[in-house]
Amino acid sequence: MSKDIVLTGDRPSGRLHLGHYIGSLKNRVLLQDSTTQFIMIADIQALTDNFDNPSVIKKSVYEIASDYIASGIDPQKSTIFIQSQLPELAELTIYYMNLVSIARLHRNPTVKAEIAQKSIASSISPGFLCYPISQAADITAFKATIVPVGEDQLPMIELTNEIVTKFNRIYNTDCLVHTTAQLSKTPRLIGIDGKAKASKSLNNAIYLSDSPQEIRDKVFSMYTDPLHIKVSDPGSIEGNVVFSYLDAFCDDVDHVDSLKAQYRKGGLGDTVIKSFLNDVLQKMLTPIREKRETVNKKQLDEFLQIGCMRAKQVAQQTLDEVKNAIGTKYHQF
Ligand code: TRP
Repeated sequence: MSKDIVLTGDRPSGRLHLGHYIGSLKNRVLLQDSTTQFIMIADIQALTDNFDNPSVIKKSVYEIASDYIASGIDPQKSTIFIQSQLPELAELTIYYMNLVSIARLHRNPTVKAEIAQKSIASSISPGFLCYPISQAADITAFKATIVPVGEDQLPMIELTNEIVTKFNRIYNTDCLVHTTAQLSKTPRLIGIDGKAKASKSLNNAIYLSDSPQEIRDKVFSMYTDPLHIKVSDPGSIEGNVVFSYLDAFCDDVDHVDSLKAQYRKGGLGDTVIKSFLNDVLQKMLTPIREKRETVNKKQLDEFLQIGCMRAKQVAQQTLDEVKNAIGTKYHQF
């Protein structure tokens, strides 16, 4: 059996945090040994809603590349590349645009939620509305058989497969390959304030690059149980951020279970569980931060350039097949 091909990516709109680590980075470190993995820094997609702020995107490309290396993604094993360096992806997007209706794009639940969240209903650009088509181009260019995603990305995978079916039928080819979403098994990490999701925009995340002091301050500011006032009070585990993070990051499950039992009963203070979580996170994040500090911009540029070249060759091959199928390949350059 041939190896699975994986395509994953992140929008460069800031540094990566613990939610990314538990939800995807750890999985990518595993996948790079068993699959052919492409990891895309989706700067063109980031531009669709940050077109007026390109310097943040550029800075984030390097931040994210450092976060990848620091978390154990090996640029020899995984091909890490920058979306904007592959015009082939833009060209594929143009061909796919004919295969999707505007109404279909407006129905995409993730796009709809983003439009509502950003209140941009009256100013949606074609660039933004069509980013799911461009995402289909990213996925199909690499003939990815697996796309590891969170639930919010399922509509993109569905659209990708619709485009593949339609393209292959209309142009009488089998050059495009259907893909499968691999849903993350870990639940979404909640923010340190107890809000549903750790995210940059809510300013409630612990970053892989945070200093020991920042980590400590964030852990000690975590939302716990507002009714757990005295140490002797019984406390609640549900919605308690400290326990959610212990579940996600502490390998000693038995110890966490005994802490939970004690906390429920009463007699265990927030300071004790926060100190313990702080120790766990410091231990996990110290090697990541140290590795992050050893990579410089020149090294990042070197491996990104190699990654872009490798990725380009693959995308170029698919684009050739697509153009052959449609009949727009006239000359060999
Ligand atoms: N839409 C993804 C996100 O918001 C990023 C992304 C762009 C992506 N192209 C992709 C993810 C292709 C998987 C496959 O995080």
